Amino acid sequence: MPPPPPLLLLAVLVAAAARPGCEFDGSLAGECHRPPAADSATCVDLQLRTCSDAAYNHTTFPTPLQHRSREAVETSSEYILLSVLHQLLEGQCNPDLRLLGCAVLAPRCEGGRVRRPCRHVCEGLREACQPAFDAIDMAWPYFLDCHRYFKREDEGCYDPLEKLRGGLEADEVLPSGLPPTFIRFSHHSYAQMARVLRRTAARCAHVARTYSIGRSFDGRDLLVIEFSSRPGQHELMEPEVKLIGNIHGNEVAGREMLIYLTQYLCSEYLLGNPRIQRLLNTTRIHLLPSMNPDGYEVAAAEGAGYNGWTSGRQNAQNLDLNRNFPDLTSEYYRLAGTRSVRSDHIPIPEHYWWGKVAPETKAIMKWMQTIPFVLSASLHGGDLVVSYPFDFSKHPQEEKMFSPTPDEKTFKLLSRAYAEVHPMMMDRSENRCGGNFLKRGSIINGADWYSFTGGMSDFNYLHTNCFEITVELGCVKFPPEEALYTIWQHNKESLLNFVETVHRGIKGVVMDKYGKPVKNARILVKGIRHDITTAPDGDYWRLLPPGTHIVIAQAPGYARLIKKVIIPARMKRAGRVDFILQPLGVGPKNFLPGLRRTGPHDPLGGASPLGEGTEPNPDPLRARRQPSAGGSKPWWWSYFTSLSAHRPRWLLKY
Ligand SMILES: *[C@@H]1O[C@H](CO)[C@@H](O)[C@H](O)[C@H]1NC(C)=O
Ligand SMILES: *[C@@H]1O[C@H](CO)[C@@H](O)[C@H](O)[C@H]1NC(C)=O
Ligand SMILES: [Zn+2]
Repeated sequence: MPPPPPLLLLAVLVAAAARPGCEFDGSLAGECHRPPAADSATCVDLQLRTCSDAAYNHTTFPTPLQHRSREAVETSSEYILLSVLHQLLEGQCNPDLRLLGCAVLAPRCEGGRVRRPCRHVCEGLREACQPAFDAIDMAWPYFLDCHRYFKREDEGCYDPLEKLRGGLEADEVLPSGLPPTFIRFSHHSYAQMARVLRRTAARCAHVARTYSIGRSFDGRDLLVIEFSSRPGQHELMEPEVKLIGNIHGNEVAGREMLIYLTQYLCSEYLLGNPRIQRLLNTTRIHLLPSMNPDGYEVAAAEGAGYNGWTSGRQNAQNLDLNRNFPDLTSEYYRLAGTRSVRSDHIPIPEHYWWGKVAPETKAIMKWMQTIPFVLSASLHGGDLVVSYPFDFSKHPQEEKMFSPTPDEKTFKLLSRAYAEVHPMMMDRSENRCGGNFLKRGSIINGADWYSFTGGMSDFNYLHTNCFEITVELGCVKFPPEEALYTIWQHNKESLLNFVETVHRGIKGVVMDKYGKPVKNARILVKGIRHDITTAPDGDYWRLLPPGTHIVIAQAPGYARLIKKVIIPARMKRAGRVDFILQPLGVGPKNFLPGLRRTGPHDPLGGASPLGEGTEPNPDPLRARRQPSAGGSKPWWWSYFTSLSAHRPRWLLKY
């Protein structure tokens, strides 16, 4: 909204001051429309630090909470709560909740009128955020009572979060006369990136859409663009791929590659490129250009070419997101050699939730739980190589050591699909940078390079059906803008070729004799101790190298079914192998032991595709809470009360 011309604004203020209770609405003098008395007010500058990012500049006193001055607001316990909410809720629901609170503590004043925030926004947030309050045993703050302090749309409310949404929806006019494949090979700020994704999804609406998988610690949406013939839906037997960029905030080439790829896929699809059409018709592709948008801001502030090796690598909590995932590799090694060892669907250990889990990490884990991903790549920078799991070494002193997964052959095939068509990765001259990986074909087992725990790729492999590789796109983490076009030229074919490998191996449906899908059935391959499970529709995908394989499907209550499959060396489409399972006589004896492999509970909430029979879901934050002896206060009470003399008993539930 453009600001009113200064003269008019002055007139408004004078009028409001001169005729309290009489709304100035620009009509001829003498007429006075009487608004409800509570709505007319004297507007003053909004000067609260905690609310400085609100979508408006003017407020008024007294506030709905009867504070009569800025000082009164600043020393109130309600205001102090807003200023620490971010820490208390570990970034969850913020900045939304804070802005909602500001809308009450510093009511919007415009043209001599108070404007109230919308009830539906409050209700939406309350529904989304109540669990975060419950998790720390805090009552919903009374001043966020959606009925008391908020208004309905027909009462002229405004959206206190409009700025969060508005920034992303604003459109940018394309330079006219440019071909539809126009891609701007520049760095993209967060707002520019969001704009490109949204605009591309709008241009290719029948094959694309954007969605957010959650927010970063500082409240930025983790925006994904999805390409598929039916956006928003999983289709039977259509494999799903994800590409993730910028997990390290200062490694920005991957972020740009995915922004360019977004535009390339849309344009080429529209232009009728048969390869891209076939790809999008048969594959569901999800691109998350920036997993760490907060870190990116830190790195971008230093600028291309000047960025140090590590500024902005971490998220806003100073967590390295690629060290923040549950370390299941240790669990795997611990059990290695025992008869029951398996390298799939290992549950997340309880103690993981006692540590700091970044909201970005949580968002990814939840995403992986809701979509049956088959294949993934995480794009990094700082070297020129493709690495694959395990990243954590099996060496007892954690020294670097070749530490293959049972799917070593498949991972090599996937990594080569990227490296072998990358001109720099294959370059024999002195041009290439980084460690010399050329003699290995520019691919390497992660632990053989260097070992680390808590990585995303190991977690993908050990907890879900997804195979993830790590791509180091080049030696410069934050390349200068002039280099971006060349980097795109080098990686475009690699990205496409890699995504196409999701169609290697076999896929199919597991059903019972009535044709009913069997979900969570296991697909075993003889000689590879890593099972794949079926998705809710009974469909599965098993990436496999060429050769002869014995494949077994099994599910509780059914007889095992064994098939022999031969995968030819040059196979472009996954072979279809369905299984129709015959029931065993019912009875608990027939249930295979060890099939329930989900953790005792599911702190990410939401339906887990892994394993039925989920038990009650306490939140991870619960685990962190000190067990409180009878009558004692929750842990945040002393934190809160140390900040002020107030004792906001209204935050206590009991
Ligand atoms: C608030 O004031 C600043 C500085 O005067 C101005 O740039 C900004 O546009 C104003 N915002 C609104 C919403 O009026
Ligand atoms: C992809 O799907 C579209 C829409 O159904 C169709 O027009 C097009 O011919 C298909 N292209 C290929 C190569 O499969
Ligand atoms: Zn990295």
